[in-house]
Amino acid sequence: MRFRFCGDLDCPDWVLAEISTLSKISSIKLKLICVQILKKLLGEKIDYEKIIKFTSDARFDSGDIKATVAVLSFILSSAAKHNVSSDNLSSELQQLGLPREHAASLCRSYEENQNALQEVLRESSLRLTHLSSLSWRVDQILSSSIVQHVNEPLVHLNLNVTDGGCNTPVTMTVSSSKLRVLITVSYFKYLFCCRNEAGS
Ligand SMILES: *[C@@H]1O[C@H](CO)[C@@H](O)[C@H](O)[C@H]1NC(C)=O
Ligand SMILES: *[C@@H]1O[C@H](CO)[C@@H](O)[C@H](O)[C@H]1NC(C)=O
Ligand SMILES: *[C@@H]1O[C@H](CO)[C@@H](O)[C@H](O)[C@H]1NC(C)=O
Repeated sequence: MRFRFCGDLDCPDWVLAEISTLSKISSIKLKLICVQILKKLLGEKIDYEKIIKFTSDARFDSGDIKATVAVLSFILSSAAKHNVSSDNLSSELQQLGLPREHAASLCRSYEENQNALQEVLRESSLRLTHLSSLSWRVDQILSSSIVQHVNEPLVHLNLNVTDGGCNTPVTMTVSSSKLRVLITVSYFKYLFCCRNEAGS
């Protein structure tokens, strides 16, 4: 089964497994924990003492607490990354077995912070390697050592890859069939993704 908040992929097994851990906390405590997790995701300091306090009724051990932090961080950041509405997130979490009141608590926190989260994610993806500019030229050639089929177009790509403020020009020449393969490779997709998110 595919979920929007997982980028239209299956829900990772570890997330599925920890949904039942979340169900052991009251929905009110879950909301308070979400506030702390959102602080962490937004780059503020997180108060772990509070999280320990909020989970004390459920008698969580340190493994349960770590799992709670990890699964909530995943759900909130992945939903923001994939621009999932709070209604959609709520219905998907319920499909995964999270009680309705718990899903409502989590999604209310998500909705209040969705824009801020997306802003932070956009900034952090810019700090990673990304494609800063791209130009291309297509040549229709009759034959060459690279292309076997006569008359296959050859694509010259000029990329500028930025990594931590450092610009690296990358030049490549590929056949149109190779280009199709390249475009499906996830790293390439990732480069294009970041470029679109940056609005450039
Ligand atoms: C995110 O979703 C909202 C509402 O569904 C939409 O208006 C907006 O354009 C979307 N943003 C992106 C980057 O897709
Ligand atoms: C999920 O979102 C889509 C469009 O963004 C909407 O049509 C659909 O009704 C939503 N589903 C739920 C359960 O909220
Ligand atoms: C890459 O960056 C260099 C230097 O900023 C620039 O001269 C060149 O045109 C860029 N290449 C592309 C494909 O935009």
